[in-house]
Amino acid sequence: MRQTRKGFINHPLKVVLLLITSFFVMDFSKVSSAVGVNWGTMASHQLPPENVVQMMIDNGFDKVKLFEADEKILGALIGSNIQVMLGIPNYMLREISQDPEAAASWVDANVTAYCFNGGVNIRYVAVGNEPFLQSYNNSFLPYTLPALKNIQEAINHAGLGADVKATIPFNADIYNSPESNPVPSAGDFRPELRDLTIQIIQFLYLNDAPFVVNIYPFLSLYGDSNFPLDYAFFDGSNKPLRDGDYLYTNVFDANFDTLVSSLKRAGYPEMKIIIGEVGWPTDGDKTANIQYAKRFNQGLIQHASSGVGTPERKGLIDVYLFSLIDENAKSIEPGSFERHWGLFEFDGKPKYELDLSGSNEDKGLVAVEGVRYMLRRWCILNPHANDLEELPKNVGYACSLSDCTSLGYGSSCNHLSAKANASYAFNMYYQLKNQNGWDCDFSGLAVITDEDPSVDECRFPVMIAYGHSMALLHKTLLNILLAVLEGCVVFLLLIS
Ligand SMILES: *[C@@H]1O[C@H](CO)[C@@H](O)[C@H](O)[C@H]1NC(C)=O
Ligand SMILES: *[C@@H]1O[C@H](CO)[C@@H](O)[C@H](O)[C@H]1NC(C)=O
Ligand SMILES: *[C@@H]1O[C@H](CO)[C@@H](O)[C@H](O)[C@H]1NC(C)=O
Repeated sequence: MRQTRKGFINHPLKVVLLLITSFFVMDFSKVSSAVGVNWGTMASHQLPPENVVQMMIDNGFDKVKLFEADEKILGALIGSNIQVMLGIPNYMLREISQDPEAAASWVDANVTAYCFNGGVNIRYVAVGNEPFLQSYNNSFLPYTLPALKNIQEAINHAGLGADVKATIPFNADIYNSPESNPVPSAGDFRPELRDLTIQIIQFLYLNDAPFVVNIYPFLSLYGDSNFPLDYAFFDGSNKPLRDGDYLYTNVFDANFDTLVSSLKRAGYPEMKIIIGEVGWPTDGDKTANIQYAKRFNQGLIQHASSGVGTPERKGLIDVYLFSLIDENAKSIEPGSFERHWGLFEFDGKPKYELDLSGSNEDKGLVAVEGVRYMLRRWCILNPHANDLEELPKNVGYACSLSDCTSLGYGSSCNHLSAKANASYAFNMYYQLKNQNGWDCDFSGLAVITDEDPSVDECRFPVMIAYGHSMALLHKTLLNILLAVLEGCVVFLLLIS
């Protein structure tokens, strides 16, 4: 497996092609924005990775964080010069912590294979994702540090240790300030995690690797009805927090400095910090909307790239926005907003203007180009249906298997009538199922229409023609058929 992959990539012709590609890419790329972005792939239908990478280059994203080593995405990143933080999912931590060989083969297949001249610019490996989250019940605690060590050792063995650093993206609640003194300067790691976290920090520090943390002002607001709204943003607050000589006007800085204080207390005042995830969703809650998302993300970008820093730490702030594209298959256990974090819709269209350069030009984002859609048709409740007894059951079914998060309280489609609700649900299911005719029935209550049923900001989407699409299925069948034919020809040649 490993040999094939390496052979493929190191083929001389391929290298020449790569060099040519990287030349063009460099030539046309815009001024570096120093803004990174998380590219999650928990969606039923994926845009072609090549088109997404081109969009990132067009927009000036120069860093990307991936949650796992997806072969197609890494392939598309070859020659792009975009810096990559490559994730290892939590479920792999146990094996990697117990078996250095597993760590070595992961690094071989997913890092070394791409780290050639003109290949993928992998800078970090993110070992696990928020492994100390309280909802995991401590199940990853014993595996995280040994997995980190095994991965870094494998990277060093491969001769890549100077360029590629292993780290761990932490959730921000591994540190806090005591309730009796809730100011950043009193910050420390949670007592039950403190020793382990400091051992990890020590390892990271000796290896010149950063501490990575995810900070979510949106969640502070979402989880606390008394939270002062403007303290979540970056444009001043009429309820600032005083901490000695410092005045905090936004919760992001307060949280960041709580970490700085925790690191100081642990003896690592200079530890490099990267914000692995930060962002604002656009739907699925009353405070999740386009206006707030733009206000937050634009404020953050300006702040991070201004060099002002936080009261405790001056300088640029290294951030990876969450996230690039909406993901309609994410778990909504944390909240309906989970499927709406994208700067871009599922089809690669930007949701709002955002100036990534931080220079306050009102520059828009560029969409993913060359996107193909399915036919412009929708599945709705038959306007003439009069026996609606079976309706709730059918709506429930459609929503349980597709994404109805925009219908909920405070969301973009919450104002719909009960009948329009049903149409919305039927359509989401029908589009998810690639517009199969037999998936627009619902006990005979549904019909297909070519008139867009969208109302105001409540959009009834038409699915993109990728992923689990019919076209793909047909292609697969065609390939099987061709393979069979090929087999027959070979057979005939052999017996003749
Ligand atoms: C490379 O990463 C992918 C995605 O996480 C994983 O499925 C695969 O097992 C990894 N390869 C090795 C050899 O560990
Ligand atoms: C954590 O524990 C709770 C309560 O015991 C349980 O409901 C939940 O499923 C557990 N979660 C995990 C990830 O093990
Ligand atoms: C539409 O569906 C949503 C989500 O299930 C619900 O909150 C809302 O009350 C429904 N609207 C009507 C008019 O039934």
